[in-house]
Amino acid sequence: MWIIQSDYNNKNAYFSTLEKELISLIDGEKNLIANLANISSWIFHSFPDLNWSGFYLWDENDQELILGPFQGRPACIRIKRERGVCGAAFRSQKTLNVDRIENFPGHIACDSASKSELVIPFTRGVFDLDSPTPFRFSKQDEDELSRIMNNIFKRLQIQ
Ligand code: SME
Repeated sequence: MWIIQSDYNNKNAYFSTLEKELISLIDGEKNLIANLANISSWIFHSFPDLNWSGFYLWDENDQELILGPFQGRPACIRIKRERGVCGAAFRSQKTLNVDRIENFPGHIACDSASKSELVIPFTRGVFDLDSPTPFRFSKQDEDELSRIMNNIFKRLQIQ
């Protein structure tokens, strides 16, 4: 049984515990989809105030990002590289922290509850977090989650 111990109320300890939890979660399992499913679930339940957490994976044949494992309400399935926050983060291969999504040109509204968004790219796709609260993701959240996820992407060999 998995028990989430990362406590967001203690921010300094939170990220180092979260990183250890995610490493242990994927340890010994080589199936990528299973690992991505568990990662999206873990973060959805550990990081407060999210309404969506999940992956889009780049499809080389279709030249689009396609919905992968996630937690939250059903989402749009296909995103072109030119579109949305996910497309922009994938193109630039840089984390995008959008404080108010309605101000982001071309933002794709999958769920009207989403007000802010953090997208962390990797070479084969993106990891997307949505919150119902504007300005949800601080600079510390952005930096620490990017660092942790890049470590996880390396371990999964999808960096
Ligand atoms: N809002 C994203 C689309 C994905 S959903 O938020 C799950 C975007 O603009 O790319």
